Amino acid sequence: MEFQNLLYKKSGGHVIITINRPDKLNALNKATIQEIGLAITTAEADTDVRAIILTGSGEKSFVAGADISEFKDLDEKGGAKLAMDGQLVFNKIEQLSKPVIAGINGFALGGGCELAMACHLRIAATNAKFGQPEVKLGLIPGYGGTQRLPRLIGPTKALELLMTTDMIGSNQALELGLVNYVTEPNELIDKCVEIANKISMQAPLAISSIIKAVNSGLTSQNGFTKEIDEFGKCFVTKDFIEGATAFMEKRKPQFKGE
Ligand code: COA
Repeated sequence: MEFQNLLYKKSGGHVIITINRPDKLNALNKATIQEIGLAITTAEADTDVRAIILTGSGEKSFVAGADISEFKDLDEKGGAKLAMDGQLVFNKIEQLSKPVIAGINGFALGGGCELAMACHLRIAATNAKFGQPEVKLGLIPGYGGTQRLPRLIGPTKALELLMTTDMIGSNQALELGLVNYVTEPNELIDKCVEIANKISMQAPLAISSIIKAVNSGLTSQNGFTKEIDEFGKCFVTKDFIEGATAFMEKRKPQFKGE
């Protein structure tokens, strides 16, 4: 798969999508956001792929935010459309039927922090730095940051970070529950692959049901009902029959995502 602003590398049961504008610290211009949408849709449709890893090229930055150079001529309507188009793609990531793991190497600022937060899991390199600096520009986050940051770390610290623009390092991000693990920069992708492989061994449709049920509880009052629905659906999958049979036969299950 060829992209202008991304690298798309399939290997085993996962895909590594690398945002590839290192001279702009991988800032998200509109074209890159559209390509991210296309890349994750492609990975979702590919039956060989069971997990997606999203990272940034170069050692300095995951993503240093939305591309500020595209802001200059925007009016109220244009600004709202920019946020809406970005949120469509970020929501798509959050709601994908396959797990998306962010491998955060360096700056994850503004839209970069928001992109990481839209992923299901986040692994940070020791040099990662997180922040929402939008108010410095007279703006607020537009790609879900005002919603996902308090959801992930609680409103107390989220409001502080959103209003002070303070950056936090990877260890503080770990303490706050913003990331799952911290690794040395040269071990970042290996750690992401290790987790991707662990998830890929499980029943794919059940993983998809986990994502739906958890999202439902985070975004609506219907989480428990969604869990009931998804639990029921699992019983009519071939993966459930395989999982239960393999358990009884004391062997490893071979899940097909059916
Ligand atoms: N949008 C557009 N371009 C960006 C960018 C962004 N969000 N972040 C970095 N860049 C570009 C810089 O303009 C520069 O381009 P140039 O070489 O053509 O001048 C290049 O990336 C390198 O950035 P630079 O600022 O020189 O690196 P630095 O190490 O001195 O500083 C940061 C790194 C991340 C602290 C700084 O780039 C920064 O503050 N970026 C903006 C962060 C932000 O506000 N994001 C939220 C946007 S809503």
